[in-house]
Amino acid sequence: MILEAAQSAPSAGNSQPWSFIVGMRGEDTHTRLSAHLARSSTVWAPSASYLIANVRQRFIEGSELEYSEFGRYDLGQAVAYMTVQAHSLGLASHQFRAFKKQALTEAFQLPEHLEIVTMTAIGLADHLRGEVVGSGTDRTRRELDSLVFAGDLSR
Ligand SMILES: Cc1cc2nc3c(=O)[nH]c(=O)nc-3n(C[C@H](O)[C@H](O)[C@H](O)COP(=O)(O)O)c2cc1C
Repeated sequence: MILEAAQSAPSAGNSQPWSFIVGMRGEDTHTRLSAHLARSSTVWAPSASYLIANVRQRFIEGSELEYSEFGRYDLGQAVAYMTVQAHSLGLASHQFRAFKKQALTEAFQLPEHLEIVTMTAIGLADHLRGEVVGSGTDRTRRELDSLVFAGDLSR
């Protein structure tokens, strides 16, 4: 269901520039994904039920021509759909970039036209909803009136 949410996401020209390396805890792919985390994410990510590498198609296969101008946007949107679906099923999800991109690319023998952009950990949270664990990143959000404009953006 979570992957079906990503599958159903809109994309520029319906280009669907995404694919996902999905590892379920206890299986080989999860172990291999865990092996290439950056130090900060090794604290919490390996215990996630699912580890997912979020991949975009960067080039048209066999060329150096950009596949889609909106590739990263569309991949992000597919991941967002997945995230919302996971949350609606009562699961927590955490997107992250703290992984060793080159090592992971080599480990999974990604062809040239594909690129791992981010990873997502999905599972049951071992902390309370809203509780901050790990990196200590500031989680406060900008005020609504600082990001919504009815006129021009010059104020
Ligand atoms: C593209 C992207 C990369 C991120 N990278 C990391 C990361 O490497 N490590 C981490 O702990 N969180 C990472 N995050 C999570 C953000 O830090 C987090 O969403 C933000 O601090 C707000 O916190 P919240 O989503 O828990 O409310 C990332 C999020 C996104 C969307």
